[in-house]
Amino acid sequence: MKKLVVLTGAGISAESGIATFRDANGLWEGHDVMEVASPQGWRKNPALVLDFYNQRRKNAHDAQPNPGHRTLAELEKYFKVTIVTQNVDNLHERAGSSQVIHLHGSLFQSRSTLNENLVYDIEGGEINMGDKCERGSQLRPNIVWFGEMVPLMEDAVREAETADVFMVVGTSLVVYPAAGLMHYVPDNKPIYVIDPHLPRISPRPNLHLIAEKAGIALPRIMEELIKQA
Ligand code: OAD
Repeated sequence: MKKLVVLTGAGISAESGIATFRDANGLWEGHDVMEVASPQGWRKNPALVLDFYNQRRKNAHDAQPNPGHRTLAELEKYFKVTIVTQNVDNLHERAGSSQVIHLHGSLFQSRSTLNENLVYDIEGGEINMGDKCERGSQLRPNIVWFGEMVPLMEDAVREAETADVFMVVGTSLVVYPAAGLMHYVPDNKPIYVIDPHLPRISPRPNLHLIAEKAGIALPRIMEELIKQA
C-alpha cells in the first residue's frame, strides 16, 4: 500500500466548532499566548493555565468529528495513512484514524513537572492545583508550549520523507518546526494543500492548492486521491 501522510492544523477541527488560533475569534484572542502556553506563563500563574486547558478539554470532549476527519479515516482503506497533527483534540482518533502523531501533545493527557516521561491519561476531565504525579510534583497538561522542544518531530520527518502523497490541511504554517515538514517530502511526490485561506507556499512541482473548507474539499477529492493509491 502507498503511504499518505497528512499534516493537519486547527482548521480541520473548525467545522467541529473548535476555534482556530489565528482566525478572527481565534483562541488566542482574549488570551495572551505567553500567559497560557509557555513555561513562563506556567511559572507565573499555573491555576490560570490549568483553567484554560480544562475549558479547552471540555470543548474538545463535547465536539464531534466532521466529514474532513472522517474522510481521512476512510482513506485507510486505500492507503497506509499517517496523520501528523498539531491539534491537541482527539477528533482524528474518534473519527477512526489509527495512526496519529500528536506533534503538540494531547489535551487528554497530563504529565509530571518533574519528569516529562511520566505521562498519564486524565481522569475526570480536569487537572487541578494539587493533582500530583507519582513522584509528588504538580501535574501539567501534556502539551508542547512555546519555547519547548517538539519531541515527536523526528518521527514526523521520517513520515514526510517516506510519503507517496502528502497533504496539508487547515494550518496557517506559521509555527515551526511543524511548518517546515513539507520540505522533507521528495520532489516527485504530490502535495495537496487544503485551506480556505491558503498559506503562502513556495512553488514546486506537483503542488495542488485547494482553497476550500476541509469538510467539503476532502470528501470531494477522495476519488482523485484513490486513483493515486
Ligand atoms: P491557525 O489558527 O494558525 O491556522 C488555522 C488555519 O485553518 C488557517 O490557515 C485557516 O484559514 C484554516 N481554516 C479555517 N477554517 C478551516 C476549514 N473549515 N477547513 C480548512 N482550513 C480551515 O492554526 P494552526 O496552524 O493549527 O500550538 O496553529 C499551529 C499551532 O499554533 C497550534 O498547534 C498551536 C498554536 O500555537 C500549540 O498549542 C502548541
